[in-house]
Amino acid sequence: PEAITVQELANRMAERGGEVVKTLMKMGVMATITQTIDADTAELVVEEFGHRAHRVSDEDIEVGLKREDEDETDLQARPPVITVMGHVDHGKTSLLDALRKSDVAGGEAGGITQHIGAYQVEVEGGQRLTFIDTPGHAAFTDMRARGATVTDVVILVVAADDGIMAQTVEAISHAKAAGVPIVVAINKIDKPGADPNRVMTELLQHNLVPESMGGDIICVPVSALSREGLPDLIESILLQAELLDLKANPGRPAEGTVIEARLEQGRGSVATVLVQRGTLRVGDIFVAGSESGRVRALINDRGERVEEAGPSVPVEVLGLTGTPDAGEDFVVVEDDARAREVASFRAERKKRAQQAATAKGRGSLEQMLS
Ligand code: GTP
Ligand code: MG
Repeated sequence: PEAITVQELANRMAERGGEVVKTLMKMGVMATITQTIDADTAELVVEEFGHRAHRVSDEDIEVGLKREDEDETDLQARPPVITVMGHVDHGKTSLLDALRKSDVAGGEAGGITQHIGAYQVEVEGGQRLTFIDTPGHAAFTDMRARGATVTDVVILVVAADDGIMAQTVEAISHAKAAGVPIVVAINKIDKPGADPNRVMTELLQHNLVPESMGGDIICVPVSALSREGLPDLIESILLQAELLDLKANPGRPAEGTVIEARLEQGRGSVATVLVQRGTLRVGDIFVAGSESGRVRALINDRGERVEEAGPSVPVEVLGLTGTPDAGEDFVVVEDDARAREVASFRAERKKRAQQAATAKGRGSLEQMLS
């Protein structure tokens, strides 16, 4: 064994960094989590921990990370988060585009949405709506699955000339699993072969009964192209959102979900984060999955720098040390030490899980060959 940092030692023992620092202190060694200790000292620490009956489990490190308890009086109304789902090419991005009155779909490579975009739209009356776009390609199933966990309402886009397809069914099951209300947008009604009634009949086969057939599923015929039906669609979403009575406390450290993350030339790791509770500010220290960092800059959906982002606001975060996975959590913590402790613990856990998976894979391969 050689010299090792306190953090690395803690990781190898699957112990909290703070606990190792404390133990070192009891042994008369003053070291911070980033400092290196010699092999002999490390061995003594390992022995010390070995004598303990109780080991800190993976779950313990997460205790107190998120603060779910909220005082009712701190809660304020927040915009609904609406995820747009549906079969490939049924017009999800075009519909969102029409709602934003901008043109994202035209600029996309091959017309396929490459990532999950998140936007906020302000409608007449000043009400804000947060939209999350999802790609319809089959390869993005898990992205869509994650989309449903941050969402309050799902807009299910079904092309009126195509009807319910494989990824429509998938989207329905995701929405059902998430237990969120579904608003069906029957799109492309401007097309010659459009048959909204057929779509509604097909919905019945998936236990979605349209209002016009005596059920509770709102179906809105729309055209992203001609903009027909858009006001009705917005009205239906607002209605659903109102029923949900959505609230969050903006006056606490931020918590949210990584919608998308990537490495960009000259900018480093960039994550699109949906803030779900609290307010995220420039300078905040955070954990994002098994990555951590300090918010260097926040950029809103219009590409403008902002100082803060409150509940339901999607924002681009600069200042990550690495690239987290879409769907991972984003939590502001009190200090650097805590951020690194949680992040490195999670990274270690991920590594162990991967190693276990590889070992298992190898085992079965050996079995197959024998
Ligand atoms: P993926 O992200 O690849 O899953 O597709 P999408 O669901 O986002 O579909 P997109 O918005 O890219 O539209 C697919 C095609 O349908 C494009 O060529 C659009 O111009 C066309 N389209 C979308 N909405 C309408 C509509 O209301 N009417 C007509 N006629 N065409 C539409
Ligand atoms: Mg798209």
